[in-house]
Amino acid sequence: MVMSLWSSRSQHPGWPLPAGPLRVAAGVVKLRPIRLRDAAQWSRARLADRAHLEPWEPVTELDWEVRHSVSAWPSVCSGLRGEARRGRMLPYAIELDGQFAGQLTIGNVTHGALRSAWIGYWVASGVTGGGVATAALALGLDHCFGPVMLHRVEATVRPENAASRAVLTKAGFREEGLLKRYLEVDGAWRDHLLVALTVEELNGSVAATLVRAGRAAWT
Ligand code: ACO
Repeated sequence: MVMSLWSSRSQHPGWPLPAGPLRVAAGVVKLRPIRLRDAAQWSRARLADRAHLEPWEPVTELDWEVRHSVSAWPSVCSGLRGEARRGRMLPYAIELDGQFAGQLTIGNVTHGALRSAWIGYWVASGVTGGGVATAALALGLDHCFGPVMLHRVEATVRPENAASRAVLTKAGFREEGLLKRYLEVDGAWRDHLLVALTVEELNGSVAATLVRAGRAAWT
């Protein structure tokens, strides 16, 4: 009996498929599943970029240095990949010109009558400003609305996070409201904007819209 890739290895469509490539000013961007051998690059970027990342990420009990040591990665990675196998997440590495450059995660994936998920991302500070996050988000969204067969994708962002708000706007997200004291970030309960996109709002695909706007090119 021939079993399809996703029914034999995971419980949801679209995983572990990669997405991309798409060319932007910084180089060629792709999404591929995170893997155990990302440990050194992940740890290096996360430790070096604490000031760049910490103002926007949920607090945890663990100290930043401990949480992002090379030896912390295997359990982080296998936890995320376990969620992916169970059909609840799609944890991607963002690659720029074949190198690990950040992460894009699709979470709380639900099917049935909701067919919804959230999406979030970070990009190493050394490669920001060149369209990497925008390309990764476009590829992630097209993946959600294509192979994963979702109807709605949402994201939350602090109003002060101008760079991420610009990324979300370029991808076509629409603001739905302000979630008061939504998430504990950087030492306090922070308001977050809720933004969303449903499949009816796509003009073809998000990547195609970026290409038409001159912000990206097919490779
Ligand atoms: N004010 C206004 N716009 C800004 C600012 C600023 N201070 N800084 C950057 N921008 C704009 C840029 O001009 C650019 O827009 P443009 O193309 O119209 O000129 C846009 O922000 C950035 O676009 P990209 O180059 O595609 O994004 P980049 O690869 O630089 O990554 C990101 C942006 C992901 C926010 C990165 O800075 C990062 O990882 N920050 C820390 C973690 C983080 O904030 N993650 C997002 C959390 S919210 C979420 O996940 C939904």
